[in-house]
Amino acid sequence: MKEVLPYHVGIIMDGNGRWAVERGLSRSEGHQAGAENLESLLCHIYDRHIPYVSLYAFSTENFKRAEKEVSFLMNLFLDLFQKKLVKLKKLNVQILFSGRRENIPEKVWLAMKKLEEETKEGNRGVLNICLNYGGQYEIVDMTKKIVSLALSGKLKVSDITKEKVEENLYQNLPPLDFVIRTSGEKRISNFMLYQSAYAEYYFPKVYFPDFDCEEFDKAILEFQKRKRRFGGN
Ligand code: FPP
Repeated sequence: MKEVLPYHVGIIMDGNGRWAVERGLSRSEGHQAGAENLESLLCHIYDRHIPYVSLYAFSTENFKRAEKEVSFLMNLFLDLFQKKLVKLKKLNVQILFSGRRENIPEKVWLAMKKLEEETKEGNRGVLNICLNYGGQYEIVDMTKKIVSLALSGKLKVSDITKEKVEENLYQNLPPLDFVIRTSGEKRISNFMLYQSAYAEYYFPKVYFPDFDCEEFDKAILEFQKRKRRFGGN
């Protein structure tokens, strides 16, 4: 029998700070450890034939953190985009970003655009990275785009459909089937609100740096136990 797998998985990568503090390390070292965990985890997910992955890397609200931590994270992202995600390029994965442009340092923004351009032909899977992202802002920004189209006469109000809304989100992605938030916190914290309408949720206790391929497989076993009804019986 064919294995039931999610088509689109979202991961809220939480607990880097606590992972570090429990080891007497700095929060930044926790983020570094989380980033180091990513490459093998992502390769494993695509090897399991799950084609869409969305990662919550940095929320719009995360800009309120200490300047030192924000600046460390921006440099970590730059390093990931310029070097570490190279393996995914070889795996033929298309990399996309969701979020607002404002406040992202120019060099990080340019590296994001370059990565999107370089991977646009990738057909093995899609990696959507949410950076300076907020689910409510995504809905606000989609509304602004649709209203502008309507006001300029390019779109009739009667033509505003679910599909039209989806085309005007940051990315037009399939719905999330499964959302994993590491660290034991049971919140969704503004992550992909529209796309997660019928998602199943899973909250493992492990911090993100310890969420390895084995933990991911455990999560999938949990997903396979869920009975999805999408509002039906
Ligand atoms: C939340 O943990 C984690 C973050 C704000 C950063 C996550 C980033 C990475 C793992 C690097 C990978 C990035 C990309 C671009 C794919 P926390 O600091 O809130 O942990 P805490 O709740 O224990 O304090």
